[in-house]
Amino acid sequence: MKTVIVYYSKHHGNTKKLIDAIAAADSTVSLIDVTDNPDADLSGYDRIGFASGIYFTSFAKQLLSYAEEHLPENKDVFFIYTHGAPKGGFLKDIREITKKKNCRELGKYHCLGFDTFGTFKLVGGIAKGHPDGKEITDAVKFFKNCNKKRDIVADKQIVCLNIPDNYSYMDDDLCELLESDVPEYL
Ligand SMILES: Cc1cc2nc3c(=O)[nH]c(=O)nc-3n(C[C@H](O)[C@H](O)[C@H](O)COP(=O)(O)O)c2cc1C
Repeated sequence: MKTVIVYYSKHHGNTKKLIDAIAAADSTVSLIDVTDNPDADLSGYDRIGFASGIYFTSFAKQLLSYAEEHLPENKDVFFIYTHGAPKGGFLKDIREITKKKNCRELGKYHCLGFDTFGTFKLVGGIAKGHPDGKEITDAVKFFKNCNKKRDIVADKQIVCLNIPDNYSYMDDDLCELLESDVPEYL
């Protein structure tokens, strides 16, 4: 299983701290800086991570353009990002691209990253000290869990039930629907 993480981390190298820790914990993981390798070939990798700082509410434009042009179809993908604002989100654009290419999303990890953009510089920045040690360790755990998820389904047949994801866990309506429409899979 060959994994590559293509990244853009130019503000303070916050995102790079996460993926360096992942690569240090797993020697099968390669890292590609999209600014150094804007035409890197991803066809030889089974699993592709995209990692970025958040710039103007999205992944870096360079990484989005790269994914649009170079991400092969039908790959397993995951996302890692750091952001200055307290809440996450920000995946809309990269997800649009990976979905268009029929890629399967294995998961996402995000945390705060030191931010001195614009007026934040005047107050010494926000999210100081992030990512911290725990956030870096959690990124490594996230990646290990992606491995587990893949192993669980590796030798299984996958069946699409065509039921929209509009229900909460063990929702009564969902259970009823499953029991009536797809009993053969229960
Ligand atoms: C030009 C610019 C725009 C940014 N826009 C956002 C934003 O929209 N939302 C946010 O939460 N953080 C924003 N940030 C903060 C970065 O996402 C944060 O510092 C991140 O950790 C940077 O990652 P990096 O050091 O890996 O590049 C911005 C930073 C810069 C420099």
